[in-house]
Amino acid sequence: MTIQAVRGTRDILPEEIAAWHRIEAAARDLFARYGYREIRTPVFEETELFARGIGAETDIVSKEMYTFADRDGGSLTLRPEATAGIVRAVIEHNLMNTDPALKVYALGPMFRRERPQKGRYRQFHQVDVEAFGFTSPTIDAEVIELALAYLDACGVREHELVLNSVGDRHCRPAYVERLRAALRDSASSMCADCQRRADTNPLRVLDCKVEEDQGVIDALPRITDHLCSPCAEHFAEVRRQLELLAIPYRTSHRLVRGLDYYVRTTFEVTSTALGAQSSILGGGRYDGLVKDLGGPEAAGIGFAVGLERLALLAPAGVRAPRCDVFLVPLAKAALDRALRLQRELRRAGLGAMLDPEGRSVKSRMKQADKLGARFVAIMGDDEIARGAWTVRDMVRSEQQDVPEDGVLDHLKEKANG
Ligand code: HAM
Repeated sequence: MTIQAVRGTRDILPEEIAAWHRIEAAARDLFARYGYREIRTPVFEETELFARGIGAETDIVSKEMYTFADRDGGSLTLRPEATAGIVRAVIEHNLMNTDPALKVYALGPMFRRERPQKGRYRQFHQVDVEAFGFTSPTIDAEVIELALAYLDACGVREHELVLNSVGDRHCRPAYVERLRAALRDSASSMCADCQRRADTNPLRVLDCKVEEDQGVIDALPRITDHLCSPCAEHFAEVRRQLELLAIPYRTSHRLVRGLDYYVRTTFEVTSTALGAQSSILGGGRYDGLVKDLGGPEAAGIGFAVGLERLALLAPAGVRAPRCDVFLVPLAKAALDRALRLQRELRRAGLGAMLDPEGRSVKSRMKQADKLGARFVAIMGDDEIARGAWTVRDMVRSEQQDVPEDGVLDHLKEKANG
């Protein structure tokens, strides 16, 4: 039996890669212009980091992590998201000492054992952006604007920004108690997950997608009616600044997100073009997480974009291999010259190729065509005798003799001209 890719993982094939290169390049270019630098953290971490960072009661930690025992008895986990690892690195390397307003981004694979479906994988990729040390609502608006600018740079236009505030350590506990009390009466009619969460983590009930539960959920108390005044003011200012920037949004009191570290602002961008897995990106503020993980008191805010979903939405661009010159050595003695010229052309920054199998001239000209070669350089017995290449300009359909010692410069000039 042949071995296949593990369920929920996928190969990114050469024909898709142009879209990936484009969205990765757009991230690097755009984020640098907003003052972000790249950080790369390991794909596995101590399990405790995620349990403490994301929250033991979340779906991610309780059901979806790839956790394994290390040989020395420790417990390791493949990262299900980037934020916790980045926060760990910020603390470990005291990055905020040198840069109290720290902006970083990361790109890479994440792992969650979810049920695979279109746009949902067990290994997927995120572009992740994090800003540390900013408490002002201005950065909330800027981070959201950056997220949308990134989608725009990737050519994604049809989407909706959804916004909420989940309060903070001062107002949320009282709201959660209210929610718990309300659920005490109604949870018995809800799904099994809701019944469990009604007690352990009532906020998660708001995430429930089960059709029959929606009526009960709609009648529950809303966080936005129970924010303390600093949280309410912060939220109002974020919305005012979004309006100032002419960014349309919809508020949803149910946007609590699947990770426990959020305080105040949470947001998601969704697209109906994605089907059931409609969220392209999600993020929010997480003041307190740096401290919880053993670092200084520091604010944090960020978001992550799912690249598989982004690639589905970004207009396809096909990038063929770049072939400036296709070499066609016909005589045996010509092959050595062609190999040397091919190396020199490549060193000069041009795309050069030949057919090492030495198939028929007809088939080689077909290959040159398929590769979109700009020039074809032919050398047979006649050319060897003349000490020259026959160089054919495929675009202009012209051909000329070019002496061997000048052929490199000739092709360089023509290809770059
Ligand atoms: P998240 O909402 O869990 O947030 O994930 C962000 C994005 O990753 C989602 O909107 C989705 O596009 C993509 N994604 C998540 N799970 C999968 C999957 N199984 N298959 C394909 N794509 C997926 C976070 O991860 C937070 N760390 C974001 C953040 C950064 N918050 C603050 N800073």
